Amino acid sequence: MKKFPANFTWGTATSSYQIEGAWNEDGKGWSIWDAFAHTKGKTANNETGDIACDHYHRFKDDVKLMADLGIKAYRFSISWPRVMPTGRDTVNEKGLQFYSELVDELLKYNIEPWVTLYHWDLPLALQMEYDGWLGEQISDFFEAYTAVCFAKLGDRVKNWITLNEPWVVAILGYGQGVMAPGRISNSEPYLAAHQLLLAHGKAVKRYRTEFQPKQKGRIGITNNGDWREPYSDSVEDKAAAQRALEFFLGWFADPVYLGDYPAVMKERVKERLPVFSSEEKVLLKGSSDFFGLNHYTTMLAQESGGNNKEQNVYGNGGISEDQDVILHVDPTWDKTDLNWAIVPWGCRKLLEWINDRYQQPDIIITENGCASDVGVVNGEVDDQKRLNFYRAYLSEAHAAIENGVKLTGYFAWSFMDNFEWALGYSMRFGITHVDYKTLKRIPKTSAYWFKETISKNGF
Ligand code: GAL
Repeated sequence: MKKFPANFTWGTATSSYQIEGAWNEDGKGWSIWDAFAHTKGKTANNETGDIACDHYHRFKDDVKLMADLGIKAYRFSISWPRVMPTGRDTVNEKGLQFYSELVDELLKYNIEPWVTLYHWDLPLALQMEYDGWLGEQISDFFEAYTAVCFAKLGDRVKNWITLNEPWVVAILGYGQGVMAPGRISNSEPYLAAHQLLLAHGKAVKRYRTEFQPKQKGRIGITNNGDWREPYSDSVEDKAAAQRALEFFLGWFADPVYLGDYPAVMKERVKERLPVFSSEEKVLLKGSSDFFGLNHYTTMLAQESGGNNKEQNVYGNGGISEDQDVILHVDPTWDKTDLNWAIVPWGCRKLLEWINDRYQQPDIIITENGCASDVGVVNGEVDDQKRLNFYRAYLSEAHAAIENGVKLTGYFAWSFMDNFEWALGYSMRFGITHVDYKTLKRIPKTSAYWFKETISKNGF
């Protein structure tokens, strides 16, 4: 049996735009995702999160289902424009109240709330008036919004995540344009990333000075990281894999743990990479109480020698000219419905890489999961593929712990099937199936497996 450390956090995760619906109710403002999804051609079948899983109206049933499934922790995100319709100054009490009731409902069943303050649904007004994450005031607006959340919820919420996957915001939102706000550029991602990091730093500072002493919670950032395995044993390919990791995860984690961008990025990106002042370095260094990691897949990294101009793999490429790495997948690897390779040992290697580079931080896997669509048969969903995925990834996570990695929690993505961004409702990640016509929830086999695993703290 693979036993996990006592007090290991077992949870599931979601995000506001992907599940809530109620996109224009109770005073909520528009987010950039409302605008993006309502623009023809931006999402699969022009699908939107207008209704999504209707969680806004069904949260009590959803929490009850979580409790029935033995889930101990729930990671959700707050929609900034639901709380502040234009992103600043005015608070929408009804919106804030929704999250307060959700927190109470979770605590009623002893489910620990883990709150992400930004999971991509920026208030549209901030995009239009201040250029979104390119504007220099955005970090102050973010700080002010987070203070509203700490003040209202911090008596009960003890785990805060400032940003979810700033890499995705920067690369997919400002580089490739496949996510809101849909911009395409090879320099804007670096500018957006810089503002995102400063926003994180300011929110953490505010929490630590004004709220943490009394509220006694923790705060951190969640980054996404896939593993990069050298394509061959050559020195060049090994260096390419290391460089790819630094351009991906190091871009955001180095400033937070080491106080600056990776040297290799400075060398290669040159004047397109903003520079932190010494004050900003101090603000950022040590600004995370834990290392939040979203991990999904692995790719092989090969030195390109400048031949990678055409290579820009959706969700995995970064700005390929800058990192100068060609990414491959091994054709023998199994894939999820999203075409992401299933490589469990990559998870262990990445955890060990983080452990070494950032001096043994507390790591929490804040997302890991598998897109796989299997229908309902006799009222049940038998999702063996997802179940195998979880077993295999958790086995490797367990091996990492045995090798000395301080992994303290794991959140399955996702609690239920939901709106998968530009891919609409075509990708199902949930351990609970959602029938989008009736909005009925049906737990899948993987959900019952988690129930057993959680109750035994292992499998
Ligand atoms: C992550 C993201 C989630 C979810 C997941 C699966 O990047 O944080 O919102 O969409 O990927 O694609």
